[in-house]
Amino acid sequence: MPAVVVLGAQWGDEGKGKATDQLGSRVDYVVKFNGGNNAGHTVVVGEEKYALHLLPSGILSPGCVPVIGNGVVVDLEVLFEELDALATRGVDVSKLLVSSSAHVIPSYNRTLDKVTERFLGKRQIGTTGRGIGPTYADKMSRVGIRIADLFDEQILREKVEGALDQKNQILVKIYNRRAADIDAVTDELLSYADRIRPMVADTSLVLNQALDAGKNLVFEAGQATMLDVDHGTYPFVTSSSATAGGAATGSGIGPTRLDRIVGVIKAYTTRVGEGPFPTELFDDDGDALRLAGGEFGVTTGRPRRCGWYDAVIARYATRINGLTDFVLTKLDVLTGWEKVPVCVAYDVDGVRHDEMPVDQSAFHHATPVYEYLDGWTEDISGARTFDELPVNAQRYVLALEEMSGTRISSIGVGPDRAATIVRHDLLD
Ligand code: GDP
Ligand code: IMO
Ligand code: MG
Repeated sequence: MPAVVVLGAQWGDEGKGKATDQLGSRVDYVVKFNGGNNAGHTVVVGEEKYALHLLPSGILSPGCVPVIGNGVVVDLEVLFEELDALATRGVDVSKLLVSSSAHVIPSYNRTLDKVTERFLGKRQIGTTGRGIGPTYADKMSRVGIRIADLFDEQILREKVEGALDQKNQILVKIYNRRAADIDAVTDELLSYADRIRPMVADTSLVLNQALDAGKNLVFEAGQATMLDVDHGTYPFVTSSSATAGGAATGSGIGPTRLDRIVGVIKAYTTRVGEGPFPTELFDDDGDALRLAGGEFGVTTGRPRRCGWYDAVIARYATRINGLTDFVLTKLDVLTGWEKVPVCVAYDVDGVRHDEMPVDQSAFHHATPVYEYLDGWTEDISGARTFDELPVNAQRYVLALEEMSGTRISSIGVGPDRAATIVRHDLLD
């Protein structure tokens, strides 16, 4: 019975939510191990469409236990809003478990996220403004507030006071904002304590026991490899470990217990926010991809930047994560192009790079070396087996597989749960 990590291989929004949801009914635990409500996962089940931010997508599968691991940063207001909205729609949210070691996002960190971005001006990251970066910074600086702190008023107050000693100096003296009030912040956090208490658990213990008992576990990443704080396009990244190693540290299980690492990758590329993106299209082709793919952010509504598939990134994601499988999504969006360009290498000042350049400024001015694959015009959204795909679509998939060296185990041909071609079972 496997433990499977599902993570993003590009810059996010690859369709991780759908990929996890699809395994749902056979999975006992779905664990979110990094990030917070900066994520936005759309899951379509028949006529119903769900947008999830903080909760793992497994919450939509009856019988599956959703888990928020220690590596997540939790905005408690958002958590309860999301739970209530799902409950109203008839989803059973009673099984959710939350790690006592997960950090909470206090309101002052949302403020700091936004004012820092404004202060950065043209050097801004384009964050989601949810307080993610400042909360992870607090965690590393050891002035963060954890879920467990909500259950001891005195300790909570002391911790808020300790954090605000520093934060208020920054808010007032650098950003010219009002100081956050210690009592107001403490009281707000305390107001969530009773409601969250029954959900709080030693999730590391629970998950290790589940592994011992031979259960199926899925570890669902937020964000993606190229947004990872270590391996992404720093500083234009998020502040957590969105790569495979994060699944272990962010949930309290050992890396040796992970059986399979699945990279979710779009048949083309998108990015939200600032930062380098070699295959980005600034012309009508980019607009056409955005329109066909419905590429608008689930969290902030921003139009996503669009470009062609980048095989250098696919190879990089394979290496950084030790991928065993790819889930290729949105192949249907590419229908209708006579030729589909695929970036196979970069040109940096006349020098060809087959791997990610080590020097970040080289990546900033890398231009793609394209191979042009034959396109197809047939509607593929009804295909359910590989053989039902037009031959050029099959060739496209096989070419991508060869370029990355990782097998493509599943192919998405539409947003719905059912619109998938399974070549290899990820839970086998
Ligand atoms: P996530 O953040 O990785 O979970 O991805 P998002 O939900 O932000 O973005 C992926 C979008 O693509 C969602 O709107 C999905 O419903 C949609 N989607 C996922 N797989 C497919 C697919 O194979 N084809 C099409 N057309 N849409 C898909
Ligand atoms: P999912 O899980 C796409 C981007 C933001 C910004 C950078 C830092 O849906 O794939 P942050 O608020 O995290 O400090 O912003 O990361 N970003 C995402 N882009 N999908 C996401 O999540 C993202 N989460 C953060 O746009 O560039
Ligand atoms: Mg998303």
